[in-house]
Amino acid sequence: MAKASAFTCSSCGASHKKWAGRCDACGQWNSIVEEAALSTGPAKKSLGAAKGRRIELSNLSTQDAPLKRAQCGIAEFDRVLGGGLVPASAILVGGDPGIGKSTLLLQAAAAFAQKGLKSIYVSGEEAPSQIRMRAERLGLTKAPVQLAAATNLRDILTTLDGERPDFAIIDSIQTMWADHVDSAPGSVSQVRTAAHELTTFAKRRGISVVLVGHVTKDGQIAGPRVVEHMVDTVLYFEGERGHQFRILRAVKNRFGPADEIGVFEMTGAGLAEVTNPSALFLSERDRPASGSVVFAGIEGTRPVLVEIQALVAQSALGSPRRNVVGWDAGRLSMILAVLESRCGVSFAGMDVYLNIAGGMRISEPAADLAVAAALMSARQDHALPTDTVVFGEISLSGALRPISQAEARIKEATKLGFTAALAPSTIKSATSGGFRIKKLSDLGEFIIEVFGDIES
Ligand code: TYD
Ligand code: MG
Repeated sequence: MAKASAFTCSSCGASHKKWAGRCDACGQWNSIVEEAALSTGPAKKSLGAAKGRRIELSNLSTQDAPLKRAQCGIAEFDRVLGGGLVPASAILVGGDPGIGKSTLLLQAAAAFAQKGLKSIYVSGEEAPSQIRMRAERLGLTKAPVQLAAATNLRDILTTLDGERPDFAIIDSIQTMWADHVDSAPGSVSQVRTAAHELTTFAKRRGISVVLVGHVTKDGQIAGPRVVEHMVDTVLYFEGERGHQFRILRAVKNRFGPADEIGVFEMTGAGLAEVTNPSALFLSERDRPASGSVVFAGIEGTRPVLVEIQALVAQSALGSPRRNVVGWDAGRLSMILAVLESRCGVSFAGMDVYLNIAGGMRISEPAADLAVAAALMSARQDHALPTDTVVFGEISLSGALRPISQAEARIKEATKLGFTAALAPSTIKSATSGGFRIKKLSDLGEFIIEVFGDIES
């Protein structure tokens, strides 16, 4: 029988009938690869022909023992997990190569081991001696973590079955090799099979597993997105190479809030927790500067202040640049369009650069007003007062829409020494002490309040 083959995108896992240069599901170029289809056997009889086993049903009120989470003591890590590690859960930790995944997870494994959880660290990339060297650097040589260097899935499952740890780390899922699957390690079918086997094994045996997945730019190796749907929790470890800050972000969590972040700093002795991220993201501000605005944001359950920076310059190009780091480019175009059509402030013929300081990435619409403020401040070369934070969502009509958790944002700003806020008029908040809130109903009013009458 001729072997069936399929074309799969190694970035998002979408399957295609034929090869194409670009995956139309995720937009990635050069990521579609041909692979042998997983089932190549003869078609099975229809399901009605042979009876299955009857499944036991239960109702929603059935009492289970409450979830017992285990905390490792690295508070930033525990919080991103939703308050600790849930037994028998599968967690995916994705991130660029070299960002610090192995470092973070070795630290977490050591911390769990010191709390009495049996922890095993399986590396498919490094030899035990290399991991020991890393442990030495991190000051963790005394931690009772067991190490293994292996890539054969069958061996790993047998070992885990014999050892019965509470916590196992597989670093990385792309190096694992299932010998019953006919394709190279790192291919979509190998990565999917390995992840499926490990997660079902984890559920059956009550082991919590962490799968490490490198985010890949190269189509030959499957990225972590192809297994996101199989696991309970998906965390991405991100940060700029040049910055020492690292952010662990929950993008999916069956046992806690998604969008929670943990902030770390990469030091010579591993990742250190940053318990007050606002102070860190704002640390380099001392005097007023045009184009710089402090946004009072919420990341997960925690308020975080970040600096938004904009630069506006005369363009020498026919179609001016719109460069964004840490925010959505589409949203920037929208804000520019609202400024132009509703407030008569044009950015035509000007290059616009927008940057979120500290390597942070923001997705909240509440940052709209702070972005508009930074753009206007850069365009007018007019600095906002250094004691003021800004937040609010902008609608297409130019009106400022209410946003959630205004109280928490203001509390965080007060804690860091800010004394005023520019915010939508519709927010509910009772200010205390000397904190002033300038409530505004639309973007035009905001511009007049801050910049006065301007010529467009
Ligand atoms: P690593 O955890 O190996 O990254 P990943 O597993 O995501 O590929 O981290 C590698 C980088 O971290 C490397 O460039 C060196 C740096 N590093 C430190 O700065 N301090 C440390 O204590 C350690 C262990 C690594
Ligand atoms: Mg690694």
